[in-house]
Amino acid sequence: MTMWTSDPAALPTADRTLTDRVLKSFDAAPSARLGEVMRSLVAHLHAFASDVRLTEEEWAAAVSFLTRAGQISDDRRQELILLSDVLGLSMLVIGMNHPVSETATASTVVGPFFVEDSPEFANGDDISGGAGGEPCFYSGRVLSAAGTPIPGARIDVWHADDEGNYDVQYAELDGAQGRGRLRSAADGRYWFSSVLPVPYPIPHDGPVGDLLTAAERDSMRPAHMHFRVSAPGFATLTTHVFVAGDPYLGFDAVFGERDSLVGAFVRHDPGVAPDGRVRDAAFFTMEFDFVLDVADSV
Ligand code: BEZ
Ligand code: FE
Repeated sequence: MTMWTSDPAALPTADRTLTDRVLKSFDAAPSARLGEVMRSLVAHLHAFASDVRLTEEEWAAAVSFLTRAGQISDDRRQELILLSDVLGLSMLVIGMNHPVSETATASTVVGPFFVEDSPEFANGDDISGGAGGEPCFYSGRVLSAAGTPIPGARIDVWHADDEGNYDVQYAELDGAQGRGRLRSAADGRYWFSSVLPVPYPIPHDGPVGDLLTAAERDSMRPAHMHFRVSAPGFATLTTHVFVAGDPYLGFDAVFGERDSLVGAFVRHDPGVAPDGRVRDAAFFTMEFDFVLDVADSV
């Protein structure tokens, strides 16, 4: 096995003149950034194909894989994001663009189930929309790095039901379920109820699932609640809160975990819940503060 390199002069088998000619073909790109990105992509692609001595059958299989990934994608399913996720590319890009800071909440993958226009809710509302699961009451604050409350922050939340499915995965469902948009109150607080997230497999009935099966990789994600928090003057935060104690922590199929994002989901016996109502079944509470970086600091 040769050393990995993006230097075309060091390619092990390739036709170096070919690589050089392709690199030069991007020299006149009006966008200098496009030229830079494409030259690097070509250099790495040629080095990769040379390194593994890619066969024609393997190349054809890769083209067929990408074709199927495109064909299975639509406005409800994004197989190419999923591919980026299972290859760790999504987390690499997030890590470079949102470096972990001492103060701000860490970012993680958005995943394929975010919906731009979620229904609006008020603090205190139940956003489950009938999604199955054990009741859970969520609360916390949206803060600046200095610890001051951020009022009016837009908070998008979305999660899977107790069968591990998001609303958009149910063809027969017209309305939103387990997703909503809230605003933080004057003191930065947010609070709402829904259900306890459970671990679930990423969609594995498509080409990405075939890849995981071929590699004998697990498709599970540890239980989590998705949040996207945005406010004028602050960098938008896309993150999760993972359920402490989940058996899949450490084995996330998309490498999205971060220790700082693991939150306590506390179980309570039947009784008075945070909404003041008496519950005759056990319920959970989860409290998590989100700290936003200022917009131009990332
Ligand atoms: C999700 O958590 O919704 C998700 C993230 C990446 C891939 C698949 C699902
Ligand atoms: Fe998820």
